[in-house]
Amino acid sequence: MLYHSHSAEETKQIADAFAKTLTGGEYISLKGDLGTGKTTFVQGVAQALGSKDPVRSPTFTILNLYQTTHPYINKIVHLDCYRLRSCQDLHVLELEEWLNQPDAIILTEWPFEQMSEVKKHIIITLSHVSEQERDIEIKEK
Ligand SMILES: Nc1ncnc2c1ncn2[C@@H]1O[C@H](COP(=O)(O)OP(=O)(O)OP(=O)(O)O)[C@@H](O)[C@H]1O
Ligand SMILES: [Mg+2]
Repeated sequence: MLYHSHSAEETKQIADAFAKTLTGGEYISLKGDLGTGKTTFVQGVAQALGSKDPVRSPTFTILNLYQTTHPYINKIVHLDCYRLRSCQDLHVLELEEWLNQPDAIILTEWPFEQMSEVKKHIIITLSHVSEQERDIEIKEK
C-alpha cells in the first residue's frame, strides 16, 4: 500500500489508520532517511492505541516502552538501532522477550535486515518528496 502525506499531521493520520489494522505481536520496521517521519509515525500509532506516554526517538536510550489503553495491545516497544553496530547487540536488549508477544507490538527505526524468525513482519518505508511531503509504503514481508 502506498500513501502520500502532505504534513506531519497527515503522517500521524496514516499511522492511526495503520494502527487500527494491528492485532498484536507485530514487528514493524521503519525505514527511511533522517527526518522522513519515522518517529512521527510512531507518535500516530501510540496515540491511536491510547498511549499517553511521550514518544521521542530512542536514539540514545535505544529502547522506549509505552503503555497503551487498547483492549488487547498493551505495550509498544519503540526501538532505534541507529547507534547499534549489529543485530547481535539486540540480544542485550532482550528483544526476544518482546518478539511475538501477543499483547505487544515492536516498532524499529533504523532496523537491521536480518530479523529472520519474526512471524508478523511489516515494513514501512518513508521517503522525502519535498520539505512537507512524504511517500509512505506499507508492506508485509
Ligand atoms: N509529511 C510529513 N510527515 C512527517 N514529518 C514531516 C512531514 N512534513 C514535515 N515533517 C517534519 O519532519 C520531521 C520528521 O521528524 P522525525 O523525528 O519524525 O523523523 P525521523 O525519521 O524519526 O528522523 P530520525 O532518523 O532522525 O529519527 C518533523 O520535524 C516533522 O514535523
Ligand atoms: Mg526518529
